[in-house]
Amino acid sequence: MEEYEEFVKAGKIAGEALKEGIKWVREGIEYREVAEKIEEYIKAKGAMPAFPVNISVNNVAAHFTPSQSCRDVFKKGDVVKIDVGAHINGCIGDTAKTVEVGTKKYAKLIEAAEEALKAAIDSIKAGIKIGEIGEIIEEKIREYGFTPIKNLHGHSLERYKLHAGLSIPNFKNKSKVELKEGQIVAIEPFATDGLGMVVDAGLGNIYRIEKDSIMARELKKRFNSLPFAERWLYEIYGEKVPFKLSFLLKRRIIAPYFKLIEAKGGVVSQAEHTLFVTKEGCEILTEIK
Ligand code: CO
Repeated sequence: MEEYEEFVKAGKIAGEALKEGIKWVREGIEYREVAEKIEEYIKAKGAMPAFPVNISVNNVAAHFTPSQSCRDVFKKGDVVKIDVGAHINGCIGDTAKTVEVGTKKYAKLIEAAEEALKAAIDSIKAGIKIGEIGEIIEEKIREYGFTPIKNLHGHSLERYKLHAGLSIPNFKNKSKVELKEGQIVAIEPFATDGLGMVVDAGLGNIYRIEKDSIMARELKKRFNSLPFAERWLYEIYGEKVPFKLSFLLKRRIIAPYFKLIEAKGGVVSQAEHTLFVTKEGCEILTEIK
């Protein structure tokens, strides 16, 4: 299979997994159950999770997955972002959506992120400048009366590289860098009624390999350079996970991702698709019709 075809296939699986996963988000259901079901779905379709399913609720924006011992359940009124990644031989589809549990109080906030994503997608073709994309996203979110999150960006994707160098801000900026034909990019506007910044707020139960070491051989073999969940380590280390984790962290063989929360406690919405940039426009690889 060619790289393009692998991205197309991974994108489709990520999109389907998200579509299914969203249906499982209901009052009283555990975060962990939804994350595990989505990850199982991805595997059943012949791909692998490209990163742990991110479940970010209310003022949490990103970089959180439930831990093995997490018993948190969705509550009525929660604004839930589900961010899903699937990969085939390192070719990644990355997609996210926001839902509100049982209420419609934040419908406009959710719509703001979705419409900003749509407007960006409509504008994307080879030659568009990163600064222009940011401006389109910011304008749409502000039209709704909300603020884009400034320190969370879209990104380019390459085989086994979730963030492949190109960063696409969600606000007007001066970047003259142009998207190129054949590039794979994930666009992910975040909207909030808060300040428009995220800050670290403790462990997100997501890790990455930081240093090549014989002690990370098993992790490297399984996850390559992609982020992995604390939950996933139970398959490898069994009951020794807490000990192994602190050992690997202390030696800086692995590094943690921190949960990102809105700086002023604002509620956050997110929408994301992975795109293949063409001369005339783009193909939405994670969209399920
Ligand atoms: Co992404």
